[in-house]
Amino acid sequence: MLKIDVITIFPEMFKAVTGESIIKRACQKKKIRIEIYNLRDFTDNTHRKVDERPFGGGPGMLISPEPVFKAVKKIKGRRKKTKVILLTPQGVKFEQKTAGRLSRETHLIFICPRYEGIDERVRLKLVDEEISIGDYVLTGGELPALVVIDAITRLIPGVLGDSESAISDSFENNLLEHPQYTRPANFRGLKVPEVLLSGNHRLIKEWKRKQSLLRTKRKRPDLLKKERNNHE
Ligand code: ADE
Repeated sequence: MLKIDVITIFPEMFKAVTGESIIKRACQKKKIRIEIYNLRDFTDNTHRKVDERPFGGGPGMLISPEPVFKAVKKIKGRRKKTKVILLTPQGVKFEQKTAGRLSRETHLIFICPRYEGIDERVRLKLVDEEISIGDYVLTGGELPALVVIDAITRLIPGVLGDSESAISDSFENNLLEHPQYTRPANFRGLKVPEVLLSGNHRLIKEWKRKQSLLRTKRKRPDLLKKERNNHE
């Protein structure tokens, strides 16, 4: 079972996502265990204040090191194989292969900064990996943590049924999914490609593969380049 611990000052943000659908089911099936820790519970001042102004000036507030160090120490406990991940736009860009790698870990701790960031000593002493979910700035690390948790969870064996898991394969070989159709075969004059109704499995497979390639070439040519480089 993969244990996922999250350190945040907005624990409520996690309830909606972890309490529904596939992530909820993964918890029930004991494939993952998610625990959300409120950073304010690790403060020792009466106002439960977790932030301070940056030394040397500059805008906004920074998360102080003390509560984060305390939280990580408590959560780690005696566990040896823990990976501590900081969500930050400065991190390495998150990709499907990162999700695959992290899904094989046994214990992940996500630190979600807010405000203008976090004291550098957290990075230096606690963090094993920094992850960004893309080149844009969000108001905190909570949504990025949820994105990463979602992408990891669906890769853990037994979380998805066979029909659901096929979807992940398509991205793993760097190709986009082919077009898909369901009933009716003729919708307001828009017809489903003949081949899909033919029952000829070999032709259908060829068509799907060709459509995948065409789509990737048109929409995401960068993926084809990446695939080529992987084989060189
Ligand atoms: N925190 C704010 N923006 C972020 C991003 N793009 N990725 C990860 N963490 C973030």
